Amino acid sequence: MLDFGQTDCQSMGMDKKLEIQNILMVPPTYFKIGYEINPFMRKVDGELNVVNERIAQQQWNALQQIYFDLGLNILQVPPSEMHPDMVFTANQLLPFKDPKNNFEQSFILSHMATAERAGEVIFFKNWASERGYKTYQLNIGPFEGMGDALWSSDESVLFLGHGYRTHFDVAIELEKYVQKNIVPLKLISPYFYHLDTCLAIINKDTCAIVKEAFDESSLQKLDSYFKTKIEIPFDEAKKFLACNLFCPDGKTILIEKQCTQTINRLSDFGFDIKAVDTAEFLKSGGSVFCLKLAF
Ligand code: ARG
Repeated sequence: MLDFGQTDCQSMGMDKKLEIQNILMVPPTYFKIGYEINPFMRKVDGELNVVNERIAQQQWNALQQIYFDLGLNILQVPPSEMHPDMVFTANQLLPFKDPKNNFEQSFILSHMATAERAGEVIFFKNWASERGYKTYQLNIGPFEGMGDALWSSDESVLFLGHGYRTHFDVAIELEKYVQKNIVPLKLISPYFYHLDTCLAIINKDTCAIVKEAFDESSLQKLDSYFKTKIEIPFDEAKKFLACNLFCPDGKTILIEKQCTQTINRLSDFGFDIKAVDTAEFLKSGGSVFCLKLAF
């Protein structure tokens, strides 16, 4: 395992308890399937999926309402007509507490893997800069933000998926900025092209995982970080992105409502389930987790 030398929060005099406060979203005003960059975007008959704009807006509103009811601060980047995938706001930035800037909230800008999405990042950079946040551009890419980089719940470890969108070499570059232990994980299945489609951090001890999406050594690495790895049934993960769930507080889990087996399994573990309808966004290969950036 690559271990880049751990620097934990305590040794740096930081507050130990890190909690999500902000949810950044982009309204689905211009959301559509305008191209194909993952296996979800095309129907079996060969045509691109077609989004029902009215239903997409309703589903997105309902999701936003849950965050509002949970007491989270909702932030928005205005949509751009040229960028139909911009609604997936997990992908353009990586939030981190900046060691070079008194541990202030800062952001690493993505370097999108596809030309189709490359133009999205500038809107997020501008949003952050206008609010006084520092942003950093890596010298290397591709890197797709929180699509592939997931913080452990105390933000002491950053899990980095590579193999489809994000390049392995990004790990070394990222470490220079975040100065935390980076754990590269190799993705091996095209349906699980982002780490957030096959790994969900639920709390300090618990993650949800789609085993089939990882190579053997990556699976073994995860054993040393989580006491409990809840296995997500492959079919539900592939069809309804069951692992693209989001747990904002260690106990509440937002998940696509068609994932009935996964919902039962998570309920058995005692989690409070909020089942949401993300069917229009599944047509593009995204669900709950990737429709927001949490920090
Ligand atoms: N159509 C988008 C893409 O292929 C979906 C992104 C979903 N985001 C995610 N973090 N899984 O890039």
